[in-house]
Amino acid sequence: MVKNIELNDGSSIPQLGLGVWQVDPATTARVVGWAIEAGYRSIDTAEGYRNEEGVGEAIRNAGVPRDELFITSKLRNGAHKRDRALREFDATMEKLGLEQLDLFLIHWPMPGRGDYVEAWKTLIELRDAGRIRSIGVSNFNQDHLERIIGETGVTPAVNQIELHPRFQQRDTREFHASHNIAIESWSPLGSGRLLDDPTIGEIAAKHGKSAAQTIIRWHLQQGLIVIPKSANRDRIVSNFDVFDFELDADDLEKLAALDTKDGRTGPDPTTASFVF
Ligand code: A2P
Repeated sequence: MVKNIELNDGSSIPQLGLGVWQVDPATTARVVGWAIEAGYRSIDTAEGYRNEEGVGEAIRNAGVPRDELFITSKLRNGAHKRDRALREFDATMEKLGLEQLDLFLIHWPMPGRGDYVEAWKTLIELRDAGRIRSIGVSNFNQDHLERIIGETGVTPAVNQIELHPRFQQRDTREFHASHNIAIESWSPLGSGRLLDDPTIGEIAAKHGKSAAQTIIRWHLQQGLIVIPKSANRDRIVSNFDVFDFELDADDLEKLAALDTKDGRTGPDPTTASFVF
């Protein structure tokens, strides 16, 4: 059974969901439909993924009550100014076909542009108007978080960051815990690159599970929210079949040792400056 993680604003989010980064817009409705059928209730998309329409279509076809689903999207880079952010948010809601969004994140801080505080204020405005239940950020470093909290007094409910056994981000996890900001792990499987790691393979074999299931289980036991991506029906189903085993202290010690400081697979938020 998927647990819910309680957020600092009183809402809660399923701990395991489907990420749809790099899912082809043309097949997204089908892929998300498979996930909902398999039991997923949380779907993570973004304006920049160009597949929000497919997510919306799947929600409408799913036959699951709206309030049982948890839908996340993210504000595109280049839309941090208030007017543009409001317009993009309207477009997101139209594509998803929703009245209210469960979680909306600033996708990247783009510190070189310096507009992320304005974006954060706009998300607060949208939340206060009742259009979003929870607001958060993605790819924010500690200094970015401190700045938005300091300038608005509003702490993000969530920060979605790259995190997996090869890039465990332990220092920043302490900061998040002390501010009650939930961490969502993106690229939880290291963009698939961790799946042939021999240590993970050994632990997986011991439990009679796959490497992906072993890594997803690691995220869950760390208290992280996790959104593995797959566009394959069998893998979507098996990535959700992670509640019949538990990693023991010995497994966790071996997994802890896989951490490297340079295990990042995606862009560094300090320098990332791509506009989409
Ligand atoms: P696919 O969509 O073909 O299943 P991450 O979530 O870390 O970004 O990793 C996603 C990558 O891992 C995708 O390439 C995805 O490919 C692959 N993947 C996801 N689940 C599994 C699985 N259970 N076994 C093998 N590969 C997987």
